[in-house]
Amino acid sequence: FEKKDLLGKRIMITAGPTYEKIDPVRFIGNYSSGKMGFALAEECARRGAEVTIVAGPVSCNISKLKSQVSIISVESCQDMYDAATELFPDTDAAILCAAVADFRPAEVAEQKIKRVGQTMDIHLVPNPDIAASLGQMKKEKQVLVGFALETNDEEQNAQHKLEKKNLDFIVLNSLRNEGTCFRSDENQISIISRDGQTDYDKKPKREVAADIIDELVRNINRQ
Ligand code: C5P
Repeated sequence: FEKKDLLGKRIMITAGPTYEKIDPVRFIGNYSSGKMGFALAEECARRGAEVTIVAGPVSCNISKLKSQVSIISVESCQDMYDAATELFPDTDAAILCAAVADFRPAEVAEQKIKRVGQTMDIHLVPNPDIAASLGQMKKEKQVLVGFALETNDEEQNAQHKLEKKNLDFIVLNSLRNEGTCFRSDENQISIISRDGQTDYDKKPKREVAADIIDELVRNINRQ
């Protein structure tokens, strides 16, 4: 039995890390693989949605998904912001799964930076907050979902983000849980909404995706 409870819905998903250029050969990045975002995209497509992924430089295999979803490949936060803000008005929901760099180098060196002296400083400036921007753009019928990864004060921070970024719910994954999260095939999450918190067991990312999409469907139907 295949649930087609997202038939005709348009969903955008941001996934993976962003790379913020330092010079032509170096960047600031993070360990996000994109796996969770792609599992979510697959689940949405399976349930009948029209899915677009805005993917940073992911390290998971995306070729098998190409027939089911549209993929827009980007590199930096600014690229991801441009693509996401353009696509969002035409969607029913967006899931912001990407691990976006909060800061980028103020200047990108044109040539490879040489090793000079004993220390080196890179001046960083803030990146746009894609989630908060979409939260401001959000229309009545749209559903916006965020992720939060914290190492401390998880619940409190997640609740704060929910409000600050105008999200409908937020998926919390903790770095404290062994064998979950970055690069892993399993994940353990809690979902935090205005109604409160639901904790889920540790599961394969595909099953975690199904739990998250069940909650998304409940939110879409409530609108
Ligand atoms: O504030 P924090 O980065 O922890 O928020 C995480 C959530 O916000 C995630 O859903 C992430 O994809 C999103 N985010 C974003 N743009 C940023 C930073 C975070 O969309 N610049």
